[in-house]
Amino acid sequence: MKGIVVYDTSYGNTKKIAETIAETLKESGIGVDLFYLKNVKKLSGKDYDFFVLGSPTKFGTMSFAVKFFLGKVKSEEWMNKPFAAFDTENPENVEKSRIENKEWSAAEKIAEKLREKKMNQLLPVLKALVIGQKGPLVEGEIERTKEYARQLAAKLK
Ligand SMILES: Cc1cc2nc3c(=O)[nH]c(=O)nc-3n(C[C@H](O)[C@H](O)[C@H](O)COP(=O)(O)O)c2cc1C
Repeated sequence: MKGIVVYDTSYGNTKKIAETIAETLKESGIGVDLFYLKNVKKLSGKDYDFFVLGSPTKFGTMSFAVKFFLGKVKSEEWMNKPFAAFDTENPENVEKSRIENKEWSAAEKIAEKLREKKMNQLLPVLKALVIGQKGPLVEGEIERTKEYARQLAAKLK
């Protein structure tokens, strides 16, 4: 069992979440390759059993780089494989989505795209909370991410 965790980041917060997910999965005995999106040379579904993708939330959706990257995820290769999606966003963004009953989260948009590619969503998305644009992460978010990754590991096994 080996998966790939890919993230985009501007200020390092989404990177921290991605690293925490990758480390926790490894602690659970699951193989993981972790990549900053711009360092992914080749993304073949033949090489991996699952996919985790994360983005900072920008203007209520995924970063432009993640959107472009998703265009390279071929449905023929990834169909039926499990995935999870995460993002970083501000607490006000979660509140806005709730009040407007409309998703302004990068992770929800990523999950929608991967479901369209007929991939299998293992868990509801993880929305890790950051303060403002540069962060830091809200206290407790690393622990919440570890718990999320443990649940992911349990689903993968
Ligand atoms: C141009 C720009 C637009 C943003 N738009 C949103 C937004 O719509 N909702 C939100 O919650 N956060 C928004 N943010 C804050 C980002 O979510 C935050 O910078 C990001 O989560 C930090 O992650 P990073 O450190 O990995 O870059 C925006 C930030 C920038 C720079």
